[in-house]
Amino acid sequence: MDQIKMHLEEILRSRRYRHSLQVAHTAVKLAKRYRIDTRKAEIAGLVHDCGKNISLDRMKELLRINKADLPKEYFSAALLHGFAGAIYARNVFKIADKDILDAVKYHTVGRKNMTMLEKIIYIADVIEPKREGGKIEMIRQLAFENIDQAILFEVEDKIEFLMKNRKIIHPNTIELRNTLIYRFEFEGK
Ligand SMILES: [Fe+2]
Ligand SMILES: [Fe+2]
Repeated sequence: MDQIKMHLEEILRSRRYRHSLQVAHTAVKLAKRYRIDTRKAEIAGLVHDCGKNISLDRMKELLRINKADLPKEYFSAALLHGFAGAIYARNVFKIADKDILDAVKYHTVGRKNMTMLEKIIYIADVIEPKREGGKIEMIRQLAFENIDQAILFEVEDKIEFLMKNRKIIHPNTIELRNTLIYRFEFEGK
């Protein structure tokens, strides 16, 4: 764990490094709450943004080498840093655990049918203690009561933001939102 931290401190800006520590801390709390492996949560939280400082060209190359090509409209650092980060975490940090790598991979865009670890990293990224404003306080509280509800609020907020700012929305994000809406509105659970 210390080695991962030292390496992260080298490759990330200090603000991003501190954010990663906070996400790991929040992820451990959520892992306890939802009774999953806290060590996996801590590692995934620590490395979730390890792809953040990779150049866009390098991200594209990493994805191409790993046969994870995406249509060109999704070529943005905001959308790709999770995908590239998962590859980086596997190659450089030698993390082989698929649960952890998927939590890194999908921490920004989400996907339908996320595992509990994926959900935890997704929402810990948003509610870590340094994040403030808007609906954060409500989402933070909800995350410990009903993580799926928290994700639904967050994902709708994200989509609204992306629409207002004329940004590309990754289809995973839409699917995540739709499956949650279906569950809550049509299946009532
Ligand atoms: Fe991120
Ligand atoms: Fe993050």
